[in-house]
Amino acid sequence: MNTAATGQKIVPLVSSSVAGPIGAIHLPRLWAKLTLHHAGLLSEGYDHAGTGFDQMTIDALGLKRDDVIAFVKEKHPTYMQFEKYVLDQNGGSISKEKIEAHNGAIRGFNHADDLAAKMQKSSGAHAHIKDAVTLNTLEDLDELHSHINASRQEHVMTLGLRRASVTAVTAFALIAGASTFGSSALNAMSKPAHAHVAMASAAGAVSYSATQAATGLKAYGANCASCHGEKLEGGVGPALSGATLNTLAKNTHLTVGDMFTFMSQQMPLNAPASLPKEQYAAIMAYVLKYNGYPAGSKALTYASATDSKVVMKSK
Ligand code: HEC
Repeated sequence: MNTAATGQKIVPLVSSSVAGPIGAIHLPRLWAKLTLHHAGLLSEGYDHAGTGFDQMTIDALGLKRDDVIAFVKEKHPTYMQFEKYVLDQNGGSISKEKIEAHNGAIRGFNHADDLAAKMQKSSGAHAHIKDAVTLNTLEDLDELHSHINASRQEHVMTLGLRRASVTAVTAFALIAGASTFGSSALNAMSKPAHAHVAMASAAGAVSYSATQAATGLKAYGANCASCHGEKLEGGVGPALSGATLNTLAKNTHLTVGDMFTFMSQQMPLNAPASLPKEQYAAIMAYVLKYNGYPAGSKALTYASATDSKVVMKSK
């Protein structure tokens, strides 16, 4: 992915516990944040040189904040060039004791109780985890997780879906062991929708039959549920209902036709376009029913689904 071109920001994933050759922890993270910041790529909400670990590191290694920032801005150093700069500011070497004292200070630093409690809660870490290094790392990983989900959903809706990226996304889910990789936060908010809200406008109506939706339920269960969840709540694949669907739909003006084109050509992921056309139409009927669209007199066909300009929205 070309991060700069898509305006994607990057989460500084180097933990504060990581050291480079001179042995000072947090220094690689400071370098990474400064480097990302000056390239305009540092993820929102991250300080490039904050008052916490950043300043502790700067102070412990005898540096000056403004100088460090300016050095990275002007020289774009590699990490080794950055370490050399740090050493140069110390006359060529830093004593082992100084490094150890710094590392001990970072490792021993706990967040204030209320902040620690907030971070434990949002990451799901146990209450005995109070050290800032671990809690910050968990926060980074959660941030990465939400970025990946957001970019995956944008990407799906460009409809120019490339197999390689699907594989990468799926592979990540497996590597990360995230069996419910479907934006847990979004999915948690997504409530099953029921058919009780009328269509906004008759012109935008999409018709499917109740029988068809029942056929669709079976076909969905056999071909899609393993990845998108029995209740369309998401799993390895994104949720096809609720808040996730709406966020996606709103951002991309997703229509029934867009979604149907995508699923009939790219899904099931492991065997794209392998089902009979009527089955795809039936599955779409079921997805519509599940998301609150009322059944009509006419059945949905492959062609009417493909052409539908009705806005996709979970009611
Ligand atoms: C092996 C797992 C797997 C199976 C089986 C599967 N999907 Fe998917 N599906 C995915 C993944 C992963 C994505 C996200 C692809 C991406 O982001 O690049 C996806 C994306 C989608 C999307 C677009 C995302 C959205 O939120 O609108 C739709 C629609 C969809 N699948 C429908 C289906 C349907 C219908 C079936 C059954 C015929 C099916 N899928 C079977 C894994 C699967």
